[in-house]
Amino acid sequence: RTVYLNGEYLPEAEAKVSIFDRGFVMADGVYEVTSVLDGKILEFKGHLARLGRSLSELGMGNPLSDDEWLAIHRKLVELNNIDEGLIYLQVTRGNAGDRDFAYPPQDTPQTVVLFTQAKPGLADNPVAKTGMRVISVPDLRWSRRDIKTVQLLYPSMAKMEAKARGADDAWLVEDGFVTEGTSNNVYIVKDGTIITRQLSTDILHGITRASLLRYAAEAQMQVIERPFTIEEAQSADEAFLTSASAFVLPVVEIDGVKLASGNVGPVATRLRELYLEESM
Ligand code: PDD
Repeated sequence: RTVYLNGEYLPEAEAKVSIFDRGFVMADGVYEVTSVLDGKILEFKGHLARLGRSLSELGMGNPLSDDEWLAIHRKLVELNNIDEGLIYLQVTRGNAGDRDFAYPPQDTPQTVVLFTQAKPGLADNPVAKTGMRVISVPDLRWSRRDIKTVQLLYPSMAKMEAKARGADDAWLVEDGFVTEGTSNNVYIVKDGTIITRQLSTDILHGITRASLLRYAAEAQMQVIERPFTIEEAQSADEAFLTSASAFVLPVVEIDGVKLASGNVGPVATRLRELYLEESM
């Protein structure tokens, strides 16, 4: 695989970063994951806008222009022959020279890393037909989940807990209400209405979420943005989640309780089709 590191395209084994990098010692960095279908980069503008916001919320500059970011994405897709897959982008505050809680000087070069992950069959995911099983766990992340930082230990622990309990993923719960999934935004459907938590600092502002809600509104589907509980979700007609890597995937079981028939419902199926059609 050819990867990008600080202005260079390199074989992955040659891409090396300092042990003093703040991404490594402090999880001081932000990231984006963008999907590629049919060799095309999806939702590029949205991901770039969110990257800019994450960086500025952490007092970091944006090291590259929009055109430069796009050129790197395109080049990596081409060099690695990605037809279906993901592009991972990470910017950290760079090599501080020493470990220190204070940020290094503003002119410290940031570390910019991009790589691709080939995912043949990304659009044709069989889980779209079978649905996912999720468990609920307390949301023990920090309170600025709107910033897409590389501090992913807790979501990773929650995912492992889900696997240990025979499920596919975990939904995070705070003050009695679901915030989001480990790496996705979550939704329930009741009597045809789509319900999803409103945007705030409590959740990541999903790029897939924004587009999906727009497509749903254009298709005259009813959407309400408000919090919901696990109990409400368990008694919903359907549930589903969205992310750049999942697009739209149905959820058929929560904490061992099957939703309605226990089968994938029509709203999630239609929204997945709609999303894939519209965003390609
Ligand atoms: N995760 N919420 C969280 C906590 C996420 O990590 C993600 C994305 C989302 C969905 O956002 P988007 O639709 O912009 O991908 C919601 C990526 C895919 C990841 O960490 O791999």
